[in-house]
Amino acid sequence: MAISSVGIVGSGIMGSGIAEVAAANGHQVVLRSRSQATADAMVVGLEKSLARQVDKGKRSEVERDEILGRVSATTDLQALADADLVIESVVEDLAIKKHLFTELDRICKEGTILATNTSTLPVVELAMETGRPDRVCGIHFFNPAPLMSLVEVVRPITASEETLAAAIAFAEACGKEPVTVKDQAGFIVNALLFPYLNNAVRLLEQGVASMEGIDTAMKGGCGFPMGPFALLDLVGLDTSLAILDALYTEFKEPNYAAVPLLRRMVAAETLGRKSGQGFYDYRK
Ligand SMILES: NC(=O)c1ccc[n+]([C@@H]2O[C@H](COP(=O)([O-])OP(=O)(O)OC[C@H]3O[C@@H](n4cnc5c(N)ncnc54)[C@H](O)[C@@H]3O)[C@@H](O)[C@H]2O)c1
Repeated sequence: MAISSVGIVGSGIMGSGIAEVAAANGHQVVLRSRSQATADAMVVGLEKSLARQVDKGKRSEVERDEILGRVSATTDLQALADADLVIESVVEDLAIKKHLFTELDRICKEGTILATNTSTLPVVELAMETGRPDRVCGIHFFNPAPLMSLVEVVRPITASEETLAAAIAFAEACGKEPVTVKDQAGFIVNALLFPYLNNAVRLLEQGVASMEGIDTAMKGGCGFPMGPFALLDLVGLDTSLAILDALYTEFKEPNYAAVPLLRRMVAAETLGRKSGQGFYDYRK
């Protein structure tokens, strides 16, 4: 099950990042976006990212051109039919992902492994939408995908050893450090991280300190590279809320119950860096 071609569905923060990682490590990549405008924007974003790396002396111009030559963007899901591996990275919504897995199962060749980049949702439910549950798993990258070394390889009870081995080998071929984890909401990182992020919003709501104060405290006091509010803005508040809701649905633990301020900010479409305004303002 050697993986040389990769299909990616979704051109948001993570889909774009995973496309860059896969292409930079020698894979042919077809990225599918819902509109031609966002597909084109992904390619422009990749060009800019690679140009920055050339400017910093991290890559040669030849490498940049080779990487770009391995990536194509399309609106046609059918273009992913012959991929060895498809990773979906669309919005964190179980119904939307289930529908997508049904479509991918219909379109993709028999041997294609179908993977999800979900942060929390039950992978087994996506596997059971297909006629190949043994060839479905989670391949969970971290944000920003080109920089973060961890990949959680998520094993639903339906997956075969071969599928897991292929997913691990793919993560390693991308220069990442895979850790295998059971298909349980939040896997490792988000199960531990999100109670902390949620409680930071609770402290803010309680007026214990300002958000700048809380961010400064967690950087200076714990040595974290960024504070909780900067991190929530990077992840996206809608994605963060979806993660907390999935964790709460699974475990019913109070620490996973999203605090009202977070839910209100998502309702107001204050989503973080991607919308220009989150806890911090990125429009200036
Ligand atoms: N943001 C993070 O830090 C992070 C980290 C790891 C994993 N993830 C996971 O990656 C996935 C994508 O998250 P993101 O941060 O890239 O989100 P994003 O908001 O940047 O992008 C979401 C993508 O989903 C697409 N989309 C929205 N509705 C859709 C629909 N109905 N059908 C098909 N596509 C649709 C959007 O067009 C966009 O391309 C989610 O499952 C999320 O949990 C996110």
